[in-house]
Amino acid sequence: MFSPEGPTLRELAVQALSSVEHGYDLLAPKFDHTPFRTPDSVLDAVGAALVRTGPYDDGLDLCCGTGAGVDVLARVCRRGVTGTDFSAGMLYVARRRAETAGPPVAWVRADARALPFRSAFDLVVSFGAFGHFLPHELPGVFGQVRSVLRPGGTFAFPVLAPPRPSSPGFWMLLGFDAVMRVRNALWRPRFVMYYRAFRLGDVGRELERAGFDVTLHALPEFGTRGDGSPRVRMVEARRTDRPGPS
Ligand SMILES: C[S@@+](CC[C@H](N)C(=O)[O-])C[C@H]1O[C@@H](n2cnc3c(N)ncnc32)[C@H](O)[C@@H]1O
Repeated sequence: MFSPEGPTLRELAVQALSSVEHGYDLLAPKFDHTPFRTPDSVLDAVGAALVRTGPYDDGLDLCCGTGAGVDVLARVCRRGVTGTDFSAGMLYVARRRAETAGPPVAWVRADARALPFRSAFDLVVSFGAFGHFLPHELPGVFGQVRSVLRPGGTFAFPVLAPPRPSSPGFWMLLGFDAVMRVRNALWRPRFVMYYRAFRLGDVGRELERAGFDVTLHALPEFGTRGDGSPRVRMVEARRTDRPGPS
């Protein structure tokens, strides 16, 4: 899972005993060599879906890390692209590896729970970061996203179908979440990262409550499961005029 350029087990343990923000600061130089970076196959499929739903002018990659989603936005946004993350280390790496082709790119250090923008974007994307928010924090994050979107703007992100209990992936994620829960019961600061807490049904309901209309797009590149349901979907949540809860 980890390439030779990736972090050692010891480095991973030190990172996992830090806060989320500081853990990513430490991981940043090697992050692109870990499985935690969103794979290009997912980025490309979301990019292709956004080409079909776009075009867009100004895009924001929420929890951008080293800029995986910024590259997607650069393909579909005509005017400007912004990456935001609260880890200064991840932003440092992102700035250094940023490609120069495409629209201008800005990097802003901010917490997704308190974004420093107002109605500035017509597209917000996010990849691989929702596990860092506890379920009760998601409505606030969705409210923040709504507030930085212009009316009619789109919030888009991929969702993988959860593995079935008959697959090793199910037990791996269950084990990971269990270890993190024990770690967080015993150790401060917390490192919130739970794979199984982010469920499509709940997320759809919370997005609607926050003032979005939700459409699901199957990403055909990943095929379907035995029951015909898509393995990977893109959520397209469009900001409505309906106000979210205050
Ligand atoms: C698994 S990485 C994903 C990075 C990138 N989006 C990708 O797909 O490769 C999660 C990122 O979320 C960021 N993050 C977590 N909680 C955050 C918060 N409350 N505000 C801003 N960024 C946050 C972390 O710093 C980290 O860079």
